[in-house]
Amino acid sequence: MRAIVCNSFAPLDQLAIEDRPSPELAAGQVRVRVTAAGVNFVDALIVQGLYQIKPPLPFVAGGETVGIVTELGDGVTSPALGDRVLITSGFGGFATEMVYPANRVLVVPASLTDGQAATFMQSYMTAYFALVHRARMQSGQWLLVLGAGGGVGLAAVDVGRALGLQVIAAASSADKREMALSRGAVAVIDSTNEDVKARAKEVSGDGVDAVYDPIGGRVGEECLRALREDGQFIVIGFASGDIPKLPANQVLLRNRRVTGVDWGAWVGRNPAANQELVAQLIALIESGAVHPVEPVSYPFDQAAQALADQQQRKVVGKAVLVP
Ligand SMILES: NC(=O)c1ccc[n+]([C@@H]2O[C@H](COP(=O)([O-])OP(=O)(O)OC[C@H]3O[C@@H](n4cnc5c(N)ncnc54)[C@H](OP(=O)(O)O)[C@@H]3O)[C@@H](O)[C@H]2O)c1
Repeated sequence: MRAIVCNSFAPLDQLAIEDRPSPELAAGQVRVRVTAAGVNFVDALIVQGLYQIKPPLPFVAGGETVGIVTELGDGVTSPALGDRVLITSGFGGFATEMVYPANRVLVVPASLTDGQAATFMQSYMTAYFALVHRARMQSGQWLLVLGAGGGVGLAAVDVGRALGLQVIAAASSADKREMALSRGAVAVIDSTNEDVKARAKEVSGDGVDAVYDPIGGRVGEECLRALREDGQFIVIGFASGDIPKLPANQVLLRNRRVTGVDWGAWVGRNPAANQELVAQLIALIESGAVHPVEPVSYPFDQAAQALADQQQRKVVGKAVLVP
């Protein structure tokens, strides 16, 4: 099999494409022929040693993978041979073949393409967990999404609309804003040329009920001031590399709240509760209420390029590696 291997925590161009023997199949595991591997912002952080999780070196990059079950280990009764499954592994997913515990794979809904299936879990579950479980948003409320043309941002637009929220989407380029409109944003803001805080207040009337911030930095901090009474600033991530220092006086004013979101760590502590949320999200996908975007495809061997493009804000929506 071929794999994208991280031999040392280093810049993306140091990732190696290696031929490796097929992994051995243990009892309780399935073997999967990979058809699509989702690219996430976090993958680039992990291989550069910039993430809180540092896998033992060397390791295969990639955390979200879809493929066809080709072999069953002893004792496996489900999934079945030929099933199309999603593996959410954290790392190990940029490979043409994987073995994984059968009880931790998800049979992919038939309505999703391989590309959609390999790119929705991390982005959509972050958005769903944030808006439903953490922020407990209510239908009709105003939501301002920053980075709305990226993975977790676009997912928040889509999930937000499905929850009945009025979503204002801020993004840096016209194609990202178009994408957000296609997922149901009621208004868009050009975050490169417009004052995001002022425009969000203008569009919503008296300010928004929540700001969803995957970017961090100055814009996020500014947008704290766009929150109305009891509004929540939802901390998702720091794609800009700049962790904002939220002014406490602005939190105090209008009785605002700051809501932290760390979906991955929560899953580790609450696997059963997460399964319930995943089932709710899958139901929304199957009913057509949310529509994960069809990702931009890269050949498998261009993993480093795909990760670099994402880090440089060039990817609209999501990206996927196709073996
Ligand atoms: N809290 C959680 O549980 C959780 C889960 C998954 C991901 N995350 C975090 O969420 C963040 C976004 O992830 P993602 O998958 O949505 O990434 P993505 O698809 O690359 O989107 C990130 C967006 O951030 C914006 N951005 C602004 N400044 C940037 C910069 N200097 N470099 C890169 N992007 C910049 C870009 O939008 P514009 O061009 O429109 O500005 C870009 O589209 C990451 O920090 C990730 O670690 C958190």
